[in-house]
Amino acid sequence: GMPISKAVIPAAGLGTRFLPATKAMPKEMLPVVDKPAIQYVVEEAVNAGLHDVLMVTGRNKNALENHFDRATELEAVLASKGDQRRLEEVVRSTHLATMHYVRQRDPLGLGHAVLRAAMHVGDEPFAVLLGDDLIDDRDVLLERMIAVHESHASSVVALMEVEPSQTHLYGIATVEPTDESDVVRVTGLVEKPRPEDAPSNLAVIGRYVLQPDVFAILENTPAGSGGEIQLTDALNSMAESGLGGGVTGVVFTGRRYDTGDRLDYLKAIVQVAATRDDLGPDMVAWLKDFVANH
Ligand code: G1P
Repeated sequence: GMPISKAVIPAAGLGTRFLPATKAMPKEMLPVVDKPAIQYVVEEAVNAGLHDVLMVTGRNKNALENHFDRATELEAVLASKGDQRRLEEVVRSTHLATMHYVRQRDPLGLGHAVLRAAMHVGDEPFAVLLGDDLIDDRDVLLERMIAVHESHASSVVALMEVEPSQTHLYGIATVEPTDESDVVRVTGLVEKPRPEDAPSNLAVIGRYVLQPDVFAILENTPAGSGGEIQLTDALNSMAESGLGGGVTGVVFTGRRYDTGDRLDYLKAIVQVAATRDDLGPDMVAWLKDFVANH
């Protein structure tokens, strides 16, 4: 198969769950400690060897482009102050990857957003990373998915066990085991099922390696759950038909942080801060004290 070099990051959502913070700022720029959430995702793609990043944006998303571009005035000020450490931090995001942007124009769903990438991606397999899910950089997921894509010649989704009460928030998979303990064959996918309809508690967690066949399927995928064109529905049809080698799942058991709603976002910040050498010890000591006295 063809080596994967392109990552697609849908970032066109309105961020309504974080209003008013996201009135004039994209939700992807919300900081997780001192870095915008979106930078963790781009770094994850680059760490997996994907240096070509296409962001699917929309109106009000200029801050995303600015964040991965130079900030010449700021750089000059930091340089003149001799603040080398901060200067390096500011310049880092501009050198991470080759960035491309396309606007989704109409918010018609994740499947529709991914279809905006068709021209840029062409006839190659590619990765999709959703910004609401952060994967701890000490754990391996995307590299493993790329390896499984290569050995199985199929599309690959990342799956994680969730509480049965949470299945209505995700794409949920029907699976069969394979010889490899962390790999399953996906025979079906359903977007945000009612609890009684969930075929399992294996949820898609926002990382995909897709065969380019997905674009033709998305073209003909009608609106589904929430009235939106769902990537899950297109993948379900590929799982059922075997198109592009069908769909394989990699079951992730590492650390994932959700930044999709306010409570999960707050938890993500606490968890990421606790892992940091510079902030973790003080943060955890304070947290223990806070909890004990709360
Ligand atoms: C999207 C996908 C869903 C997936 C989830 C992972 O939903 O549609 O299949 O399980 O991301 O975070 P969203 O959370 O954007 O509603």
